[in-house]
Amino acid sequence: KKLLLVDADCGVDDAQALMMALAAPQVQVLGVTCCFGNAPIENVCRNTLRVLRVCNRTEIPVFRGAASSLVGTRASLPIDHFGTDGLGDAPDETDSGTECVQKEHAVSALIRIVCEHEGQVSLVAVGPLTNLALAVRMDPTFPQKLKDLYIMGGNMEGKGNRTVCGEFNFVMDPEAAHVVLNEFSCPMYIATWDFTCRNKLPWEFFDEWVSQDGDKAAFMKRITSKCRAYSRATSRKDVLFGAGFVSYDSYAMAAAIDSSVMSRNIECSVSVELRGELTRGMMILDPSHTLNKKHKAFLTKEWDMNKFTQLLKAALEQSC
Ligand code: BDR
Ligand code: CA
Repeated sequence: KKLLLVDADCGVDDAQALMMALAAPQVQVLGVTCCFGNAPIENVCRNTLRVLRVCNRTEIPVFRGAASSLVGTRASLPIDHFGTDGLGDAPDETDSGTECVQKEHAVSALIRIVCEHEGQVSLVAVGPLTNLALAVRMDPTFPQKLKDLYIMGGNMEGKGNRTVCGEFNFVMDPEAAHVVLNEFSCPMYIATWDFTCRNKLPWEFFDEWVSQDGDKAAFMKRITSKCRAYSRATSRKDVLFGAGFVSYDSYAMAAAIDSSVMSRNIECSVSVELRGELTRGMMILDPSHTLNKKHKAFLTKEWDMNKFTQLLKAALEQSC
């Protein structure tokens, strides 16, 4: 089986991505490391445990990670349509707190697990990259021990969702993104925010998806009711990308599960702006290699929507 570690800031789309991994028969999830982002770290841990409970996979260990960015004190920035708790503020009757979170810190767990399975672990990072940056500071050999890294974050077209030209995960911790983009030597695949928006799914797909029988679909319907209403109201006005449903983090996850979903990638050096007044956190592409960087990344460019929707569908099937 493919060995996966998931680093997430468990909001609605992180939950979708995690459920996709849990449903994939060819994949074994070794653990989930939590990072602040869509919600404060305690909420992120609680949300992750909740997703694992819904999927009957509570044997998977959950680790508490960074509570704020490397520089400054940015601790979380709830997104309106994900709710203040990150999962649409849908009440959770089964909430049993965060007692089941492992005692070991997420960064130590990342280093340990990757060491135990050297060269075999795919790391899927779908939140701010703080835990990953800390891991390479604690163990500079961490990146070379990974099989590969899949990131949801950044942007290629100069427009952002968190600031005028910055994407959420990179803006939440630009220094961490800088460390990862510049220092991770393993093969690195990035599904940028604008790429995911260019590959939206029709709302008809979403409505059918969450209306299936079973606990998983019912859970998804509950946690997405805020998103659904918000997107109905706003995405028609999205002049750049038009209407549709986007499960941002699921793109990076799908690529990790089945690399053939990426029908074309662009191989390019990338970095992130740290100082610009309007551009802090914006991803920088360097196709002509001006920055003379050692490592390149693969940016997803064309996508097999058919395979992707199959993976998404399976995520909510009760039998998976
Ligand atoms: C990213 O930002 C977060 O809010 C989502 O979970 C996703 O990881 C999209 O820009
Ligand atoms: Ca996320």
